[in-house]
Amino acid sequence: MARDVIIACDFSSRSETLAFLDLFTDCKPFVKIGMELYYAEGPDIVREIKRRGHRIFLDLKLHDIPNTVKKAMRVLSKLDVDMTNVHAAGTVEMMRAALEGLTRPDGSRPMLIAVTQLTSTSEERMQDELLIGSSIRETIAHYARNAKAAGLDGVVCSPLEAGLVKDACGTDFIAVTPGIRFADAGTDDQVRITTPAKAREIGSDYIVVGRPITAAEDPVAAYRRCLAEFIG
Ligand code: C5P
Repeated sequence: MARDVIIACDFSSRSETLAFLDLFTDCKPFVKIGMELYYAEGPDIVREIKRRGHRIFLDLKLHDIPNTVKKAMRVLSKLDVDMTNVHAAGTVEMMRAALEGLTRPDGSRPMLIAVTQLTSTSEERMQDELLIGSSIRETIAHYARNAKAAGLDGVVCSPLEAGLVKDACGTDFIAVTPGIRFADAGTDDQVRITTPAKAREIGSDYIVVGRPITAAEDPVAAYRRCLAEFIG
């Protein structure tokens, strides 16, 4: 099973993003492009980063009626990204439609993963506002099983939930986990966090790391440290 560090490029402009990537002269990290950058710069920023040789996780978290998601995924499949995602709350039917749309005529496709419950959603809010009566851990395991039933490759979850996902769906079902911090650093606004080494122990396949790398004095050194701690 491939394990890797994905850098969250949470920048708001093309120039800032490319200046950051220019720092990496002798390696091409896997990067995550989120809504902010994609909505600001459009598909061209994806093409440019791909042209520079990076693998890309396009984190747009699609959630709509199955037909709309399928057609949107068909468009995204032409961008040649390596990973993208949907909300599992859109139902198994929507996830199946996403997978169908993402699959190119030659049968190839990017990895497709699902968001279970956002880490910003507390159990209390999920129960009181969304009227989901189960515990958050049961909900995450159930949504992960739904994603697996739909044929998806894995889920995005907190590293602390990676073990739960593996128990529910098997070790081959991938866990992509943000919320990573070095042991000797601050936590920013993240709450349920762990270190790269601990994430590996719990079972993460890919860790998504933003500010510990992007805001570091030496981002390349911070990236290398992350790789060393996570991959060993
Ligand atoms: O800077 P930091 O390491 O906290 O960045 C984490 C990245 O992962 C951000 O892009 C954030 O939006 C994303 N993310 C997250 N928690 C989730 C899903 C995505 O932190 N549940």
